[in-house]
Amino acid sequence: MRKPRSHRYLFLCRAGFERFLVQELRRAKLDPEAVCPGAVECAPNDFTPVFARAGFRVVDAPGPSGTLEVWAVDGQKLPDGLPALEPGPARFVACTLAPGLVVFGDRPTPAPKRMKRDADTLSRAALKLDEALDWAGDAPGPRETCVDLGAAPGGWTQRLLARGARVIAVDPAKLKVPPSKKLVHVQDSAFRFEPDEPADWLFCDMAWRPLEVAQLLAKWGRKQWAIRLVANIKLPMNDKWPTLDRVRATLEEGGWRNVKMRQLYHDRDEVTVVASRY
Ligand SMILES: C[S@@+](CC[C@H](N)C(=O)[O-])C[C@H]1O[C@@H](n2cnc3c(N)ncnc32)[C@H](O)[C@@H]1O
Repeated sequence: MRKPRSHRYLFLCRAGFERFLVQELRRAKLDPEAVCPGAVECAPNDFTPVFARAGFRVVDAPGPSGTLEVWAVDGQKLPDGLPALEPGPARFVACTLAPGLVVFGDRPTPAPKRMKRDADTLSRAALKLDEALDWAGDAPGPRETCVDLGAAPGGWTQRLLARGARVIAVDPAKLKVPPSKKLVHVQDSAFRFEPDEPADWLFCDMAWRPLEVAQLLAKWGRKQWAIRLVANIKLPMNDKWPTLDRVRATLEEGGWRNVKMRQLYHDRDEVTVVASRY
């Protein structure tokens, strides 16, 4: 543990994932070095790594005017006793890296998003979808059709129905979502399911092997069965990059474009993927 150097860039990640972020930044030739659990320092850049939640340029102190946002790496408390700034448009960050170690930054990315769970939320997974749609800057609207592969117990399906979309939920397991005329539950494997007509959106949160899931999603792309994709890919293996590279290549071979991947705040040993056919 050491203080990151001024004018270097600091990326924050899920604690325990520093080495995947270091590998990624090394591939981008950004001279990375993990500084503490949940933070990796590197050369200044405008890169958006898969394994970073947020980042900023390290500075000795915030400027005299702007807003000072309070951040903390995984497992640490928000900083307190911070300098007061004159109001201004600039954004600065004060981020706790370890007890008593606060680092300042300028030009921060958007702050990591923590979604709220209300009493009706059926599963923790629903927060992953909320965050994924927020990150994608797009979401299904009323009358759009969504297919939700690996839907049970129904957190994603519930959120999609709440947006007014029609949902075909595919999962051999039972749904806890109340019946609705906008919901069809196909209680079968997603590997056997074929839609009667193309959908606007394909969602997938199947707890299954990532390369097989990627091949299934590629089939949906090739057959033009959906226009937009939001998927959560599970990555339980120790060496994640070879799998992630193959997932991306498989999706692109299936005709998915603008494939973006990111380990979002609510993602655990998994990443969120968004893509479209155009
Ligand atoms: C993480 S849970 C999904 C949670 C769901 N998105 C929610 O919000 O409640 C993973 C699901 O994948 C399903 N699954 C695993 N293999 C599947 C397959 N071949 N076809 C369909 N669903 C599958 C499991 O039954 C399980 O319900």
